[in-house]
Formats: sequence, C-alpha cells, structure tokens
Amino acid sequence: MIRKAVLVGSASLVAFIGSTLVLGWDQNAPTKPASPAFPEAPAAFDNKSNGMVDDPSHLADQGKFDEVENVADGLGPLYNAQSCRECHQNPTSGGGSQVVELRVGHLGPDHRFVNPNIPIARGTEIISGRTLVNDRAICPNAAFPDTEIQERVPDSETIRTTRISLSLFGDGFVEAVPDQTLIDLASEECKSTHGKVCGVVIYVPIVEAPGRAGVGRFGWKDQHVSLLSFSGDAYLNEMGITTSLFPDEVTKLCNTASEPNDTPGPDGLADVDHFARFIRAAKAPPRDVTLAATPAATKGSGLFDKIGCAVCHVRSLTTAPAGTKINGGAFAIPPALGSKTFHPFGDFLLHDVGTGDGIVIPTAEHYGRSARQMPQECSPENFQKTANRVRTAPLWGVRLRTRLMHDGTTVTLRDAILRHAGEAAQAKAGFRKLAVNDQEAILQFLRSL
Ligand code: HEC
Ligand code: HEC
Repeated sequence: MIRKAVLVGSASLVAFIGSTLVLGWDQNAPTKPASPAFPEAPAAFDNKSNGMVDDPSHLADQGKFDEVENVADGLGPLYNAQSCRECHQNPTSGGGSQVVELRVGHLGPDHRFVNPNIPIARGTEIISGRTLVNDRAICPNAAFPDTEIQERVPDSETIRTTRISLSLFGDGFVEAVPDQTLIDLASEECKSTHGKVCGVVIYVPIVEAPGRAGVGRFGWKDQHVSLLSFSGDAYLNEMGITTSLFPDEVTKLCNTASEPNDTPGPDGLADVDHFARFIRAAKAPPRDVTLAATPAATKGSGLFDKIGCAVCHVRSLTTAPAGTKINGGAFAIPPALGSKTFHPFGDFLLHDVGTGDGIVIPTAEHYGRSARQMPQECSPENFQKTANRVRTAPLWGVRLRTRLMHDGTTVTLRDAILRHAGEAAQAKAGFRKLAVNDQEAILQFLRSL
C-alpha cells in the first residue's frame, strides 16, 4: 500500500504515517486519505525531559539510572554490571554502548531450542531457565572465600551469540504506539511485498499486569512491551537486584541482602519506577541536520525508500492519544507522549534477515513468576519463531553506533547492509545494483540518522 506524505505548511510537519513504500510492488494501489499531521516528538541529546516530568525530576531519575550498586544494595550474586549507565551511555545516559552480553543454548532431539543448564559452585547448583550467561559474580569474597559461583559456558551449549546494548532514547514514544498499529504494519508490509517481507508480531506478558499481554517491541527479540517490565528484567538479570516485579534471586549462594532489594522510597517510587520514568521521559534521538541537508543524504533518503529499505525501517509512527491506557491498564499515556509523530526507521517487528542467532526467548528469565502461567495470547509457536528472527534495528541514532547488528560484530554500515539476506534479500540486491555514488548516498543518509 502506498501512503503519500502530505505537506502541511512546514517540513517539520510532514506526516508519513506508516511506511512509505515506493517499490515495484502495488504501484497502482489506491492511496488512502492522508491522516492529519501530529506534532513531532521532541528530539535532542540534552538530558532534558520530553515534557512528561519537569527537568529536575528527570535529572533525579537519571541519577538513579546512573547509580552504582554494591553488594550491600543487593548487587548479584550473578550480574553483568553495576549500573544501567554502564551499558546505556553513548552519547549520554540512556544511549547504547559497545557492551555485549553472552547468550547460549542448544538444540534438543526434536530440533527445538533448549535453554542451557549452567553448573556453578563446583556443580552443586544448576542455573536454568535463562539463556543469559552472567559475566560477573560477587564471590569469592571476604565473607565467602571458598564459594566459587562464576557462570561459564558448558561445551554442550553449541548455540552461542553476543547481543549488543541498545539505545533507550525515544522509547517512551515506542511504548505508546498502539498494538494495532504494529499488527496492521505487519499485514500491510506482507501484502505490499506479496509475501516477501512479513514481520512477525509476538504477544508477551506484562509483568506488572499479571495475566495480561501486549505486542512486544523492546529488546532484540521483542521480548517486552512495557518499559517497566523491561526495567525490572534488567535490574534482576543485568545487576542481580530483585524488585517486587522480579522477587526471586537467580541464586541464593553468597546472597546476604534481604529481598526484594529494591523497595519504594519516601516518594513511593522504587528504583525500577525511576528507571521506567527516566526512559519514558527521554527525548528521541535527533538527526544530524548538517549532514541531512547535503544533496547526497537527500538523494540517499529517496533511494532508501525506492529499493525497499523503508519497508522494514519504517520512517514514521504515531503514538496513541493522551489518556489511553496501555500495558494491561497499568500505564496511562501522558500528554507529553500522546498523539506524537516520531521517526524510528524501524517497524519493531521480527524478521528473518538471515542473521538469526537460533535463540528462543527464555520466558522464565524475562517474565519471572508470571512466566508460570503465560497469558493465552502468548502462543508457544510464535515464541519458537523468535529463534531465527530479529527485531528490525531502528536506525534513529545509528550514526553513534560503532558496532552494528544484534551481535555487534559488524563494524561498517556497508557491511551491515550486505549482511542482510532472507526477507531483505531483494532490498540488498537493490543496493548492490546501485551505482557506486548512489550507494554512497545511502550511506551518507544513514550517517545523518
Ligand atoms: C551489562 C549491560 C547492560 C546493563 C547493565 C543494562 N542493560 Fe539494558 N540492555 C542491554 C542489552 C545488551 C540490551 C539488548 C538486550 C536484548 O534484547 O537481548 C538492553 C536493552 C534494554 C532495553 C530495551 C531497549 C529497546 O529499545 O529495545 C531497555 C528498556 C533497557 N535495556 C533498560 C535497562 C535498565 C533500566 C537497566 C538498569 C536496570 C539496564 N538496561 C541495564 C545491556 C544492559
Ligand atoms: C526485511 C526487513 C528489512 C529490510 C528490507 C532491510 N532491513 Fe536493515 N535490518 C533489518 C533487521 C531485522 C536488522 C537487524 C539484524 C540483526 O541485528 O541481526 C537490520 C539492521 C540494519 C542495520 C544495522 C543497524 C544497527 O543498529 O545495528 C542497518 C544499517 C540497516 N539494517 C540498513 C538497511 C538498509 C540500508 C536497507 C536497504 C538496503 C535495509 N536495512 C533493509 C531488517 C531489514
């Protein structure tokens, strides 16, 4: 389906709703009437709020996000880093980074993915239900000089990948996109490409609304729909800090702090609530306006649409109106996030572009106790589909990334494009066929994002 952009006075009000497909496909499809222009989501790397909270509160929330946790605060026993900022800080708190995590597993006799069993403490305890392998542990230490709990990958776990840290800028707007928008996007792209590009939607549990599910959009596998759920997951699995959402430690060995480690402060908010509010109130990544204005980047932008990159790397999305309840009713969209247009250059859907790491979303790890009874929308078959699918990497802010793709092993934009296959084979072929200066124009456009 082709949706035309409408110019409403100024260029900043150009509303591209959904993807702008200008491929060889369905060129004659009727154009839908244009949606009215919505105001742009604020974009800047200025550590200021997008308007959801006042700037001092936003800075205070950032303080929590930046805070270094220690053993006395509940850090570990198994962990990857001591603060959210350690992995989310380029060019400032809330960004991405070069830090990667390790995930492993193996295939069972039925050729389905199986989570690893990781022995620790000289084999006396087995860590299961996760694919994450924590790189650090709090002991041996003075209190437990003889307790050795470091996780290490057993030889049996032959499926192995790294996953690189993501940027969180603008994610408040992503969270406020209606489920239905993503469902429609999946069917539109499949229809307009005659089945060549069909993003997969997965319903995932909302940890703060037990029994409820929504359309996943966060993480390389779309494993979460809610930023509060993701923050609780990260606090436990990256830092070993338990919360009321994730009250169970991964192991009790060497553990001395009382559970849950994170409890509400005088303002009624726990750390995890501050993290979610910090991310929700963060602005979107801004464009490099100098590069964006160059003739090469302008030309590259058109070519990006023409060869089919924008089918998945969707230019613009719009959030639901203020007051809409999302996350199973647990969060009402505030005015600062409601009815805004933003430009993620991603569809937040899962695709097989030939780069899959073979790893299926581990439910106990990501949803804690709520994984014991998954809401019925969460189809096990769709979870299986996550083995070799990856969420379209949203390209906003890609100019700040030194390591690309989910595993962070690609280091140039050209190589990232050439690594696409599967559903993106046609787009890659389109790129290959371009004259050298047209290819360079696309790269220049990417460097402006
Ligand atoms: C050790 C590094 C590390 C630490 C510490 C860390 N993260 Fe992350 N974060 C990652 C990685 C890696 C991903 C991508 C994970 C995946 O999908 O496999 C990620 C993804 C995310 C996402 C999803 C972003 C998106 O757009 O999809 C959110 C939200 C997030 N982290 C929040 C947090 C919060 C809050 C904290 C602190 C409690 C935290 N992270 C601590 C590495 C880290
Ligand atoms: C079928 C959907 C699809 C199409 C079409 C597509 N991509 Fe992608 N793109 C993805 C997915 C999925 C990823 C993440 C893959 C991974 O991490 O393994 C990605 C990753 C990228 C990245 C790396 C970004 C990062 O942060 O690591 C760049 C750059 C990129 N695509 C550019 C392009 C360009 C340019 C085109 C057109 C030639 C294109 N893509 C076409 C789905 C698509």
